[in-house]
Amino acid sequence: MAKILGIGIATLDIINTVEGYPAEDAEVRALEQQVRRGGNCTNTLVILSQQGHECSWGGVLVDEPDAERIVADLRDHGIDLGAARTLLHGKVPTSYIVLNRHNGSRTIIHYRDLPEFSYEDFQRIDLRGYDWLHVEGRNTEGTLHMLVSARERRPDLPISVEIEKPRPAIERLFPHADLLLYSRHYASACGHDEPQAFLRAMHAIAPAADLIAAWGEHGAYGLTRGGAPLHSPAFPPPRIVDTLGAGDTFNAGLIDALLRSASLDQALHAACHLAGYKCGVTGLIIAGYHIESTRGTATHD
Ligand code: ADP
Ligand code: FRU
Repeated sequence: MAKILGIGIATLDIINTVEGYPAEDAEVRALEQQVRRGGNCTNTLVILSQQGHECSWGGVLVDEPDAERIVADLRDHGIDLGAARTLLHGKVPTSYIVLNRHNGSRTIIHYRDLPEFSYEDFQRIDLRGYDWLHVEGRNTEGTLHMLVSARERRPDLPISVEIEKPRPAIERLFPHADLLLYSRHYASACGHDEPQAFLRAMHAIAPAADLIAAWGEHGAYGLTRGGAPLHSPAFPPPRIVDTLGAGDTFNAGLIDALLRSASLDQALHAACHLAGYKCGVTGLIIAGYHIESTRGTATHD
């Protein structure tokens, strides 16, 4: 199995499950409350580690009680925290999440008051031995320097970059990735509601990268660096329970399949199968998911 380095965030997720999404100014009872570790990059690593990969995380933590829960969960999944930076003061990023039991939708209010993992932090990581680098596209300037440095130090290391939200000059990152993972939210912020037109516009900026856009219940779309358009439908579970982290699971499914030499089309289908399975279970435990081929076939235990 592969050795994977992920750079991005870890959060505390406070999840209130409700019968239906409340109206503004309403007061409703939560059916259930869960506190979990979250954060796009660490969610992706937690899935990859369950797929048998050896994962390391570079991100920022704080020396405060809520961080202990995050660290414990990452350690439980065997994730190496040697590259993480721990600040003495502050609060771990916290997400207040309303999970609608009716349709599995998750509404997130995210609070963050921490510096980002920096280029200087990244430079301290020995990149030898890694088979894949996955980076959340956050602080453009710092991330750009990380990508350039990774290319210089390990020209053979595949790099995926997740582009979830519009951020100042984020498109400067695109030409430095091998695989770009876009969200529908980002596409729509760029004025696109048609996925292939969006991906063609991105291809003009990053012609050497494979491009993916996850499209929720419509599955996901791809455009190979050679210009071939791809699509996989979604594979909904018997009942949608929890869509929190579906995109992060999808990203792990893609990376895992590509590391196992799948084509981009096969990887896209495998990722949709895995993400669909995840929507049918609470949290990010995929022990009941069986991969029967590179394409992945979800069976529900
Ligand atoms: P997120 O909002 O978590 O970033 P998306 O909503 O784009 O992610 O979903 C990522 C992937 O998860 C989709 O490409 C799809 O394969 C799967 N997925 C999401 N919602 C559903 C759903 N309702 N039914 C089946 N699969 C889903
Ligand atoms: C899900 C998630 C949550 C986290 C939020 C951060 O994709 O990573 O776990 O709170 O998004 O934006």
